[in-house]
Amino acid sequence: MKKKKKKIKKIKKHIKRKARTVKKEVVVQKIYINGRLIEKEHAKISVFDHGLLYGDGVFEGIRVYDNLIFKLREHIDRLYASAQAIALDVPIGKRQMVDAMIKTLRANRLRDGYIRVIVTRGVGDLGLDPRKCKGNACIIIIADSIALYPEKLYKDGLSIMTVPTRKNIPEAINSQIKSLNYLNNILAKIEAMNSGAEEAIMLNQDGFVSECTGDNIFIVKNQKLMTPPVHCGVLKGITRGAVIDLTNRSKIACSEEVLTRYDLYNADECFLSGTAAEIIPVVKIDGRIISAGKPGPITLKLTRDLSLLTKIDGVRY
Ligand SMILES: Cc1ncc(COP(=O)(O)O)c(C=O)c1O
Repeated sequence: MKKKKKKIKKIKKHIKRKARTVKKEVVVQKIYINGRLIEKEHAKISVFDHGLLYGDGVFEGIRVYDNLIFKLREHIDRLYASAQAIALDVPIGKRQMVDAMIKTLRANRLRDGYIRVIVTRGVGDLGLDPRKCKGNACIIIIADSIALYPEKLYKDGLSIMTVPTRKNIPEAINSQIKSLNYLNNILAKIEAMNSGAEEAIMLNQDGFVSECTGDNIFIVKNQKLMTPPVHCGVLKGITRGAVIDLTNRSKIACSEEVLTRYDLYNADECFLSGTAAEIIPVVKIDGRIISAGKPGPITLKLTRDLSLLTKIDGVRY
């Protein structure tokens, strides 16, 4: 009997020790590059890759909530549509791309986080001719976390401002293409930050409201939600789509409207939407206080609804 007790004690001790070592185990981040999972430190691509030299490539940012990949199909479809628009052959199919994403998530033991999928034109020479990129396009998948704005701003709301840098005209680069070229958005962000605002409102060439540097914009006026239509130079955001769906379900009126800065200044509420940002309230626009300086009720409701949706709507891995 004594012997048996001793044995059980020994086994328990062993299990405890094992549990401690599992807890302490650090997962080294692994990056997917062209079919291989490579430790972050060694994950490198050529300096001749046209994604680096010319911003020649496309990408997607996708969120993962408790092992559910949110709006996976929409993101995959948009990635391949962006690639198609720039005549870039993605060397693997959509199914294989999803498998690669899941493989990367699992390798990094990520339950909650953010996946960045990048497809570049690949390795060429120093000229911009894409025909010189002889091999396949380069596929990179990074599974990580992301925080676009400090947590405090989700409670207090953002101060945003219109900036001089405009959106591209659709005849130049169509805003539906999620390309590796974000230079005007970066300039817009710099302009906003230099003026003490956290985010920039970008106007299109005609002076109408388009979107922010990595988010779509919504306003509420008289209980009605409005967001600029795609022809105003807006990326057809997947979170924007989810918000519109949520308004339909809860019978909140919502429509796409051409908006001016006047509309923003006189809004009852304002918020931004995006995969990385999720929903973030806006309380100040170009120095004008919006929504009595705090997040409004419709913004808060949609924030709650989106959070609930992320718990059920997604592909499990
Ligand atoms: C310019 C721009 N607008 C809007 C969005 C929001 O789109 P989504 O909700 O699909 O992330 C993004 C996100 O990447 C973006 O880069």
